[in-house]
Amino acid sequence: MTIAVCPGSFDPFTLGHLDVVRRARRLVPEVVVGVARNSSKSALLTLDERLAVARAAVADLDGVRVEPVPGLLVDFCREQGATVVVKGLRGGADYDAEVPMALMNRHLAGVETVFVVGDGSLAHVASSLVKDVARFGGPIDDLVPPGVGDLVRAALERRADAAAAAAPLPTSTDRPTEEPR
Ligand code: PNS
Repeated sequence: MTIAVCPGSFDPFTLGHLDVVRRARRLVPEVVVGVARNSSKSALLTLDERLAVARAAVADLDGVRVEPVPGLLVDFCREQGATVVVKGLRGGADYDAEVPMALMNRHLAGVETVFVVGDGSLAHVASSLVKDVARFGGPIDDLVPPGVGDLVRAALERRADAAAAAAPLPTSTDRPTEEPR
């Protein structure tokens, strides 16, 4: 039985991700959504939050489960018995980013990557844009599975509070000087 891994940082899982997972599941009988760490990004949501969100989003899909990826994706694929990685493409920028990863995974372990083109109506849906819209108070609930918007907003508040707490206290030199009379 062919098992496919749909990997990503899923920070957060979006309706675009769900579309790709559904398409992957139409190609193979078993799909493992691998929630991984992208070392070039700093995640907003914790791993537990990203796992919980992805699990809730795919709960009604037979043959789909969600697991954390603790290290290299190719090691995870081997542990899961997966021979193929499935990723979604929204456009040329995705292709440019994905091809080096696909080549590296093939180089490391002979793991092949299959690209599926996602639903065109979701081509603008990216986790990074979702977070940016939310950061400035914009609406994101129609871009993510139910409940994810609240989680993202709470995480952004958490981060803003932490940044405020870490900010240096004003020193005497920061005090506005009195105007000479
Ligand atoms: O959703 P993303 O951030 O584009 O997904 C990238 C991800 C997490 C799939 C990639 O960074 C990854 O596979 N990370 C696991 C560690 C690994 O294997 N790195 C080498 C990838 S070529």
